[in-house]
Amino acid sequence: MGQATDVFRGGVAVVTGAGSGIGEGLARTAAELGMQVALADVNVERMERVAAEIRATGATAITIPTDVADPAAIDRLAATVHDRLGDVRLLMNNAGIEILGLTWELPTDVWEKAIRINVLGVIHGVRAFVPRMLAAGKPAFIGNLSSIGGLSMMAVQTPYILSKHAVLSFSECLRMEMDLVGAPISVSAVLPGPIATRIFEDAATPKDSTRIEFHRKMMQDMTHGPGSLTGKQAAERILAGIAAKEFFVSTHPEITAQMAKQRAEHLATLSTPTLGEEAKRMLLG
Ligand SMILES: NC(=O)c1ccc[n+]([C@@H]2O[C@H](COP(=O)([O-])OP(=O)(O)OC[C@H]3O[C@@H](n4cnc5c(N)ncnc54)[C@H](O)[C@@H]3O)[C@@H](O)[C@H]2O)c1
Repeated sequence: MGQATDVFRGGVAVVTGAGSGIGEGLARTAAELGMQVALADVNVERMERVAAEIRATGATAITIPTDVADPAAIDRLAATVHDRLGDVRLLMNNAGIEILGLTWELPTDVWEKAIRINVLGVIHGVRAFVPRMLAAGKPAFIGNLSSIGGLSMMAVQTPYILSKHAVLSFSECLRMEMDLVGAPISVSAVLPGPIATRIFEDAATPKDSTRIEFHRKMMQDMTHGPGSLTGKQAAERILAGIAAKEFFVSTHPEITAQMAKQRAEHLATLSTPTLGEEAKRMLLG
């Protein structure tokens, strides 16, 4: 983590969704790199536990209960971090949720929740923090959590997949805008592969979801199976990529490259989205 230490030591990091999984790993790793860390999560108990453990190592960690689905809460987060810790060097728009189910079986509130958290949460993070970063005029870094799902398609995860595509395209435009105005802010899209977290355990589903429970189990097994990383291992790879100013930050470069190639071929040939027979059998249980 040599370069990441040089880049981040002494700075302030903000991590949304810092109470679990990748966000927890990012908060711990940022503290290990010598940063003061602001943890934001909707689950206060989990976030407080992580912060207490970080403080026990001698690092500074503050907690700010935040629902990223609420733009005003993100504004308060930005103001509080600035007042208490000063200029932000690293913003990780990490909070995100999974939703499982056929599009038409998911209730309106579930659809809207997914978009408010996974898409608007990232957008409002940028809207709330960037003006202060620009005013500070110092080098800063923004990491937006997309996914390898931002390069691929998956039936019965439609809200999640579309949100991760949105975060990727948002981040691409944002990186260009920073270039346009000559801002010293590096924007990265983070595309993790399988990371062993609680995201599928917590995933919302429609009421009648026997079929979907099969899919949940399959995804849980995949994210906890061979080749998966812990949130902490993922965070170390992610912060190394962000420090190097990579745009596409991957935890599993081979999977990312394969997904990108498949997506490019699909678009280049304007092929019709289809599932293979085996995938259909798996999805239908
Ligand atoms: N786990 C994976 O395999 C994987 C793969 C690709 C991308 N990701 C992305 O990484 C990010 C983190 O996921 P994870 O797997 O660590 O999940 P996780 O469920 O373990 O942790 C997510 C955290 O976000 C918090 N959160 C949920 N809604 C929130 C809200 N409205 N406001 C603030 N905090 C909220 C949760 O309380 C939780 O602490 C997500 O954006 C996810 O889409 C995960």
